[in-house]
Amino acid sequence: MDYIKWDDSYSVGINLIDNQHKKLIRILNKVIEHSEMDVRSKVVAEVLTEMTSYASYHFESEEKYLVKLGKEELDLHRKEHQFFLKETAEFCFETMNNKQTLPKEVKVFLRRWLLNHILKSDMKLKNLKIDE
Ligand SMILES: [Fe+2]
Repeated sequence: MDYIKWDDSYSVGINLIDNQHKKLIRILNKVIEHSEMDVRSKVVAEVLTEMTSYASYHFESEEKYLVKLGKEELDLHRKEHQFFLKETAEFCFETMNNKQTLPKEVKVFLRRWLLNHILKSDMKLKNLKIDE
């Protein structure tokens, strides 16, 4: 699977969030890079832990901005974040217990979810005109 490349069209116009998205992409690329390795190896466990913990840290910072879009938007958006964290926790558990390497559908899910989420949901931050 190809690595993900940052594209300026992913920018939501807030430096802090763009930088966090860049870091998430780098972590996801590490997941892709190590996906042929045995899931019981230390490095795979570290990369997956880094991804889930950084994602939840990032979602929290994003939600501080999303409050400004109103409660309805915030609740909807939060549900997407929670869905991601729940799915990743489940596949990590499933993979560690029943698989040898990270299944392709997991990589496809991660990649698709992140890029779709940035381009559709996070893009709503663009209208906020925030002074950092
Ligand atoms: Fe988001």
